[in-house]
Amino acid sequence: MALADWWLFLQAWSDKPRRVGAIAPSGPALANLIVSRIGVADAPILELGAGTGVFTQALVDKGIAPRDLTLVECDERFARVLRERFPGALVVTTDAGQLGNIAVAGGRPLGAVVSGLPLLTMPAHQVNAILRAAFRRMRPDGAFYQFTYGLRSPVPRRLADRLGLRVTRVGKVHLNLPPATVYRITQAAPTAARIAERTPAVFEALAEGD
Ligand SMILES: C[S@@+](CC[C@H](N)C(=O)[O-])C[C@H]1O[C@@H](n2cnc3c(N)ncnc32)[C@H](O)[C@@H]1O
Repeated sequence: MALADWWLFLQAWSDKPRRVGAIAPSGPALANLIVSRIGVADAPILELGAGTGVFTQALVDKGIAPRDLTLVECDERFARVLRERFPGALVVTTDAGQLGNIAVAGGRPLGAVVSGLPLLTMPAHQVNAILRAAFRRMRPDGAFYQFTYGLRSPVPRRLADRLGLRVTRVGKVHLNLPPATVYRITQAAPTAARIAERTPAVFEALAEGD
């Protein structure tokens, strides 16, 4: 890991500690775990809170083409680094809470979302807006991968139930600063009505037997 990335993180963290949520970029073991269930067939993919691009690089190393990546990052300094490192990817400098209002992957349904957002420090209404917008853009079988330094799920049970989501633990990485746990969030039971509401194009194609 480049020393410059640590320095950038430290600067961003000292400016806005709650927003950055970490004093250093994630390590390779966490990056490998969070992308472990993602493959080329899951493209296009959205990454939220991409930082200096540790998870982005792990996705590219798995064969995902940068053109199939949309990276959302609210810190302009991190966004600049992402544009330099992944010129083919779409980097959007905005608050992930605005996800419902931005163009992602040209409207193609997403196979996966990878998130480094500090959900535990965000207000509940913002987490709600992010999850809703993400699943509205996702295929019925798509998954949202989130890591946390906390001891519990980063998505409270009540919120998951209200949104019809299922949260499962993928695993824990001790070799990270600090140790982190990865969760996989999916639709609990993608009913036809819910699929139609979230991804009309996919639903129509399914209904026509495509
Ligand atoms: C814990 S760091 C993770 C960075 C990177 N994914 C990694 O693992 O090294 C959280 C990242 O989310 C970004 N972030 C925090 N709140 C955000 C928001 N509301 N919208 C977009 N990005 C946000 C921060 O700027 C930071 O880059």
